[in-house]
Amino acid sequence: MKCKLCNNKAAINLRAYNTSLCKAHFLSFVEKRVTETIRKYKLLNKGDSVLVAVSGGKDSLSLWHILTKFGYAPEGLYIDLGINGYSDRSLKKVLSFAKEVKARLWVVSLKEIFGLGIKELARVLKRPYCSACGTFKRYLMNRISMERNLRVLATGHNLDDEVSSLLGNLLYWKEEYLWKKNVVLEEYEGHLAKKIKPFFLISEREIAAYAFLSGIDYIYEECPYSVGAKTLLYKEILSRIEDQSPGTKLMFLKGYLKRLKAEKEGREQGPVSYCTICNYPSWGQKCVFCSLTERLDIPYKFEYKEYDFSK
Ligand code: AMP
Ligand code: FES
Ligand code: ZN
Ligand code: ZN
Repeated sequence: MKCKLCNNKAAINLRAYNTSLCKAHFLSFVEKRVTETIRKYKLLNKGDSVLVAVSGGKDSLSLWHILTKFGYAPEGLYIDLGINGYSDRSLKKVLSFAKEVKARLWVVSLKEIFGLGIKELARVLKRPYCSACGTFKRYLMNRISMERNLRVLATGHNLDDEVSSLLGNLLYWKEEYLWKKNVVLEEYEGHLAKKIKPFFLISEREIAAYAFLSGIDYIYEECPYSVGAKTLLYKEILSRIEDQSPGTKLMFLKGYLKRLKAEKEGREQGPVSYCTICNYPSWGQKCVFCSLTERLDIPYKFEYKEYDFSK
């Protein structure tokens, strides 16, 4: 198999694009597509202060790598969920990556705040682990972005994450979530950071290859609580469809984005209410984070650590 561009040995075959590329051409192919996404959807402007949420996995570390390469000098945020062994191993990867790119890293730990890890917190809330985890992660990412004045929050969500959650929303007609998914969510009146997903149109396989070929040292294992999650089943099914008809996933998501534009026209952003304790957006009077600290009856201790490798 030869690279379509230079005839050297190909490192990857991209059936959705009907091409094969060598290492150098593949890396620049991915970077070019990220640049196009950033430009087309107006994700970033020069001089933006960016916080990248990093889990230690291939997607978020590749994103940190690419945004650093593009000159945005992002800082990182790691949320320690207190999952036995897994969280420590992930943090180690994140710390050594932060050292490598000479960046500042923020680390917030659920155990340090609540004295409990995500498993125990989900039990208190009577919610499935992944759903409680998502709520905490969104809250912490947003709050720390705003507190650090890093007004653009970037996550490593990829094409496969997005199509699988889109399929889930369609299967169960979760219309309340369906039209909320986007490449970019704008900042909201000093309460919500601008949220961007530069890998929205890049597949998991492409990112895995990008991380591997760039020599990024990431954690291979998945979160132990994700075993059996529906999104993994949807990913598997969609990959089988992709095998039979390359390009389907990308078409599905691009079609969604086109319809989203029409859906949003004429619609105003719904009123957001604010937590009476922390003043960050919430569904009810109090946000989940503050309700929980009250329910657990522990003193409110919102803190996180700074590791500055930029000097
Ligand atoms: P996931 O929800 O695990 O599919 O992750 C989606 C994105 O959320 C990742 O690409 C990261 O940008 C971010 N993320 C997930 N877990 C963490 C974490 N523990 N700390 C910081 N960011 C995270
Ligand atoms: Fe959230 Fe596993 S429960 S990453
Ligand atoms: Zn080549
Ligand atoms: Zn609150």
